[in-house]
Amino acid sequence: MNKVLSILIVALISTNVFAQTDPNFGIIPAPVSVTRANGNFIIDKTTVLINQSLDGAKSADLLNAFIVTKAGFALREAKVAQPNQKSIVLTSVGADKLPAEGYTIKVTPNQILLTGKGAGLFYAVQSAMQMLPDKVGDKISVPAVDINDYPRFSYRGTMLDVSRHFFPISFIKKYIDQLAFYKINTFHWHLTDDQGWRLEIKKYPKLTTVGSSRNGSVIGNYPGKGNYLTEVKGFYTQDEAKEIVKYAAERYITVIPEIELPGHASAAIAAYPELSCFPDRDTFVSDKTPWAGSRKGKQVQQTWGVFDDIFVPSENTFTFLNNVLDEVIAIFPSKYIHIGGDEAPKTYWKESAFCQVLMKEKGLKDEHELQSYFIQTIEKHVNGKGRSIIGWDEILEGGLAPNATVMSWRGEDGGIAAAQQNHDVIMTPGSMGLYIDHKQSNSPDEPVTIGGFAPYQNIYAYDPIPKVLTADQRKYIKGVQANLWSEYIKTPAKAENHAFPRLLSLAEIAWSPVERKDLKNFSEERLPKHLARLDEMNVNYWIPTPINQGDKTLTGSEFTIDLKVPVTGGKIYYSLDESRPSENAFLYTAPFKVVVPQGEKRTLKTIVIAPSGRSSVTLQTILNNGAAEVKPEAKK
Ligand code: ACM
Repeated sequence: MNKVLSILIVALISTNVFAQTDPNFGIIPAPVSVTRANGNFIIDKTTVLINQSLDGAKSADLLNAFIVTKAGFALREAKVAQPNQKSIVLTSVGADKLPAEGYTIKVTPNQILLTGKGAGLFYAVQSAMQMLPDKVGDKISVPAVDINDYPRFSYRGTMLDVSRHFFPISFIKKYIDQLAFYKINTFHWHLTDDQGWRLEIKKYPKLTTVGSSRNGSVIGNYPGKGNYLTEVKGFYTQDEAKEIVKYAAERYITVIPEIELPGHASAAIAAYPELSCFPDRDTFVSDKTPWAGSRKGKQVQQTWGVFDDIFVPSENTFTFLNNVLDEVIAIFPSKYIHIGGDEAPKTYWKESAFCQVLMKEKGLKDEHELQSYFIQTIEKHVNGKGRSIIGWDEILEGGLAPNATVMSWRGEDGGIAAAQQNHDVIMTPGSMGLYIDHKQSNSPDEPVTIGGFAPYQNIYAYDPIPKVLTADQRKYIKGVQANLWSEYIKTPAKAENHAFPRLLSLAEIAWSPVERKDLKNFSEERLPKHLARLDEMNVNYWIPTPINQGDKTLTGSEFTIDLKVPVTGGKIYYSLDESRPSENAFLYTAPFKVVVPQGEKRTLKTIVIAPSGRSSVTLQTILNNGAAEVKPEAKK
């Protein structure tokens, strides 16, 4: 090699090494401990890859495939390293001493040693892929380091609602790939609801021939401008569902199916009206309920909200649900089956003579206890098959089923109450940013959403363990989940836009110890690189607005605009003349000053353009020096 070139490469490699100032080595979620050691390991064409573990062959292949994309060559796989041969080794030796799903990575100048078993080894590979720097010439220089890592919570989940809008198998797989990369280990699949039943049940074909399609959906925010008359339809065959279970399991992800009962059952009731309290009667949303209107029951619903249709707690219904659950259990090997339990209006149970007689017979004092009876009957069946139920926090009302896990969504109260009753809990409070159908900024450019405001920083700030719990009760908090409801999410692209980067925040609060949380490092050091990767992978993530820019009015006469690009390789463009910035606006290259005369204001408007060319929403900050229209109260 020519001398000048070799000096240059050494300089570049060193720059790269010294550039590794990120204490987390770029890894999301942040590992438990990362200790920089001396020297570097150089990956080049002579490096061998050795899998010495029993269950790491696929993980080794994954790593090698990644090295091909990163370095441009594959590593030769070998059984043992020759003397002085540099190697990347996957091993399970010592893994028994690691916590569940834990792993270690030890990088020395001679070896990269990844230790773990099963999920642990798989996660070691995910972290290794995330920490590899870019190549320089034909080499990748990896700083020596000791990483010791394991999860804070055993349940790290995300829910996808495929009832309100249907998402194809190809998208579900692409989504699962990303979950695995961030060590999210549970995919909660919301398969049934009022607006569509999405899983083939062989014994009840009408669930999908009738229950999986509707004639329209809302345009704009509910109540919207009326329905667009495109048919919304789709369901997964049992074979397709099994394919997803297998695909996820290969990535150490458990799929938990949700079959909603006793409410959110309109699609099932449309298919089999005998499951309703009033099989022979037209049903309407009652005027007594807060969601009153003239919406029709016993149909696959075309609009959003909560509907009065509810399963009647008859022997016939329980036989139906048990048969459905038996088929579900045969497809999904998960310990948990989610049975819904949320937002079950009691209006029809109150009106139904059958329900009132049943309540007397069973000694149930109100309809909440009837709901509890319903859930407990289902729980017995599910427990009888060796599985456990999870339900939304309404299953606390009227008495918790003995072995149920509670998913706390209406704030944390349900989760706290359940933990205090020694029941397992998954925290997913909408009020803390875990509802990722909510909007991500206040920009008018945001697409239509269901409402709410949940930027990725809100999820990041959330600690799933409520302070009010005692040390003993805290152990019932099994984990945390983000929910992607799809009323306003019609396409995979929009689903991705809602999910990312918020799922990266979720990953960190679900995995990393609280002491390792560091929003500045997350947003400014690691996230930009991960977003550049998502950009390259054609994932339609939400492009953050510039780092250091807020949407609150600033007051003063002189302002220093000091921004950072939130996506590596992206650019910020801005305007100060009220126009909407585009790539023809000013390119932000360095901090600058804006001087605003007394009594005037300026509006800083920015966009971020990602390397793929996609644009963020516009963010505006008003720079006000006493302009009357911005602060009318100042006039008083
Ligand atoms: C829910 O958001 N209804 C669980």
